[in-house]
Amino acid sequence: MSPEETTTVVVCPASELAPGERVIFEHEGEPIAVFNAAGELFAIEDRCSHDDGPLAEGEWSPAECTVVCPRHGSIFDLRTGKPRTLPAFQPVRVFPVQIIDDNITVEV
Ligand code: FES
Repeated sequence: MSPEETTTVVVCPASELAPGERVIFEHEGEPIAVFNAAGELFAIEDRCSHDDGPLAEGEWSPAECTVVCPRHGSIFDLRTGKPRTLPAFQPVRVFPVQIIDDNITVEV
């Protein structure tokens, strides 16, 4: 597959991800998390760029659109995937999210 090609993955019915909730799924072995921040949806790679630990299970703030890595505490911006604090300094991947036919979908 070339880097430009993407696949639309259905994650779950939109009604199953209320504001303030998150869901984690896997696509071809890659964990991805979708967050509902006050009705706005964000999808990020669920693997911290610092030490490959799971990222999305950390505390997150719908108001700030951030998640805190549970391992060493870097704060990541859900919009961009960029860390706001050390020790992580490289971004994680982010993915476009849409609602299609009442389902949450992610372009991977
Ligand atoms: S594994 Fe996330 S900050 Fe270290």
